Amino acid sequence: MKKKFPLAFYNPITLVGAVLASVSFGIILLLTAIELTTEHSKPYMGIITFVILPGFLMFGLLLIAFGIYREHVLKLAGKSIQRKFPVIDLNDPKHRISAAVFTVGTILLLVFSAFGSFKAYEYTDSDEFCGTVCHTVMEPEYVAYLNSAHSRVGCAKCHIGSGADWFVKAKISGSYQVYSVLFNKFPRPIPTPIENLRPAQETCEQCHWPKHFFGEKKVDYVYYLSDENNTKSYLTMLLKTGGGNIELGNASGIHYHMNIANEIKYYTGDHSRTEIPYIEATNLKGEVTVYKDKNAKFDVSKLNRDELRKMDCIDCHNRPAHIYNQPDKMVNLYMSSSRIDESLPFIKSVAVQALEIPYSKKEIAQDSIRLFINNFYALNYPELVKTKSEEIKKAIEEVKLIYSRNYFPEMQVSWRRYPVNLGHTYSNGCFRCHDGNHVSDNGKVISNDCNVCHTILHQELPVEGKLLSFEGMNFVHPVDLGSSIEKQLCIDCHGANKKNN
Ligand code: HEC
Ligand code: HEC
Ligand code: HEC
Ligand code: HEC
Ligand code: HEC
Ligand code: HEC
Repeated sequence: MKKKFPLAFYNPITLVGAVLASVSFGIILLLTAIELTTEHSKPYMGIITFVILPGFLMFGLLLIAFGIYREHVLKLAGKSIQRKFPVIDLNDPKHRISAAVFTVGTILLLVFSAFGSFKAYEYTDSDEFCGTVCHTVMEPEYVAYLNSAHSRVGCAKCHIGSGADWFVKAKISGSYQVYSVLFNKFPRPIPTPIENLRPAQETCEQCHWPKHFFGEKKVDYVYYLSDENNTKSYLTMLLKTGGGNIELGNASGIHYHMNIANEIKYYTGDHSRTEIPYIEATNLKGEVTVYKDKNAKFDVSKLNRDELRKMDCIDCHNRPAHIYNQPDKMVNLYMSSSRIDESLPFIKSVAVQALEIPYSKKEIAQDSIRLFINNFYALNYPELVKTKSEEIKKAIEEVKLIYSRNYFPEMQVSWRRYPVNLGHTYSNGCFRCHDGNHVSDNGKVISNDCNVCHTILHQELPVEGKLLSFEGMNFVHPVDLGSSIEKQLCIDCHGANKKNN
């Protein structure tokens, strides 16, 4: 038989290498074809196609080279063995059967391993995998995610996006995460902001297009005070979400200013991005306005431009999928939707207090919430315990539900640790820049006018009655604070570090 390749090719090591390389190459082609033809790109598919299989391919190629080199060395040393391959004679029934079994077996094996690796991908790509494999670590994020507007958007869609480069980055940090979970080295809670989250333009904007955001969004709030009657009040406002198309000229609102008309960069010295001493806004004409916090002791001459962060969706929407809600907000919602009976005296106050006690474990919390609320009514309203026992029982169940969705003591997760930046009541949010203290050299202030982001249309309060205005009116705080409401920020009394919430 004439050999097509030099003799040195015909050795077992080179042969194994050749088989390995060609099988990996075949599967790479197959998976690339699947990736190109499926509608939804699968970020995790990249791990095999672009990371693992090329590894095998390279290894196969190295084996080929090593086999040849070894053969060459043996030959020089005079130890060259004349290799012979077995002769297969298909006229011999024994040979025929073995050859058939071998061929069919190999093909089946290849098909199944390709299918198997595809299924393995699909699983690592699933939200179930992301959310439950490291159970306690990811539990808060997974539970909050299941209760968010994005519960049908895969984890990988926001955390990785498509394409191989971010996939590899995610895998590298992923391997470290696996290590830290195995050796119990992970921080509690997981620190945010996530340093190398993919720029939001490449994830969020795949589904939400800033130019197509429109108009104002009407939002209704119902509030209850912490008094015996759970004094109720209402507020309706238009949130000027906006957006718009520059060509058509109908552009306005929050998204327009932030995402279309201006590119905003800022410097923050602290990891949580709370203190923002320096901001640069570049408008469509390329004019730059620099705003500085007049109260911050920040030396602009020491600014390193590489440390500027370009503001994107995440700077406002930092909790699109994992929202740990503030207790007042949740209890108001559950009371206004009749899940908690609003006629139970002090229920607002008792529920919020029961939620805010720092428990060490989920199970302890669930028990203590029941005891806390039961004891309160047994002690203060013994009559009510008889007449409204069902309502009290239902209230306890609902408060426990609020707890289980918003507090995760094992990971030390709650609204206090992961503030929401989309607003200004319970964390500084918009007021990190819109506090009236960020001023440009020519005196322009980043607006903190109460009507610039929203228009309050309606409020209904026990004392003032019904107030209505289409132009927008001043906010009437549900309890009279005198001049404090002008002098202090909402978070001074309602924020995570303050008692009064
Ligand atoms: C709609 C987009 C989106 C989806 C879907 C999503 N996340 Fe997130 N996730 C984020 C953003 C944004 C952050 C916070 C980034 C920051 O503050 O730096 C985050 C933060 C996290 C954190 C850090 C801790 C924390 O709570 O901030 C973990 C862990 C996490 N996500 C896991 C998951 C898992 C697991 C899933 C799927 C079950 C998932 N995410 C789905 C957008 C998303
Ligand atoms: C794969 C598509 C997809 C991606 C990626 C995505 N979203 Fe969404 N988002 C949706 C859908 C669908 C809804 C509407 C859900 C509904 O109304 O039930 C939504 C709703 C929202 C809402 C309204 C939420 C509410 O509570 O009403 C906001 C805000 C939002 N997304 C922001 C973001 C941000 C910020 C990111 C990037 C971190 C992002 N989205 C990434 C699909 C996506
Ligand atoms: C300056 C802060 C800010 C930035 C930056 C920002 N948003 Fe928003 N966005 C808001 C506010 C405020 C709302 C209204 C909040 C609400 O619905 O409670 C909103 C609402 C939304 C909604 C829901 C609209 C609706 O009608 O329910 C979506 C979707 C959204 N934003 C996506 C994005 C995306 C994607 C980006 C990045 C391209 C982005 N936003 C950047 C502040 C911001
Ligand atoms: C990192 C700083 C920063 C944060 C955080 C921020 N903004 Fe702004 N915002 C700016 C700057 C700077 C401008 C002014 C741009 C210019 O020079 O015209 C602006 C302008 C605006 C405007 C237009 C104001 C006007 O006078 O017409 C609106 C509306 C707005 N922001 C809404 C929001 C909302 C809502 C939030 C919170 C969800 C928010 N911003 C958070 C920096 C910020
Ligand atoms: C930079 C934009 C901006 C400015 C300036 C601003 N707000 Fe707001 N405000 C928001 C956003 C965004 C929300 C919505 C938060 C949410 O989604 O619930 C909000 C919500 C509110 C709420 C409902 C709060 C709640 O959690 O129930 C009140 C009340 C309010 N603002 C009052 C004011 C007052 C009073 C001022 C003036 C001192 C003011 N706002 C200035 C952006 C702004
Ligand atoms: C000087 C302290 C202080 C400041 C500043 C303050 N509040 Fe309050 N706020 C209170 C107190 C006290 C209550 C009554 C709490 C209760 O009865 O549960 C309250 C109650 C409320 C309530 C009704 C109770 C609830 O949460 O359901 C709302 C809404 C509210 N404040 C919003 C705001 C907003 C928005 C701002 C900023 C514009 C603000 N507050 C600034 C002290 C303050």
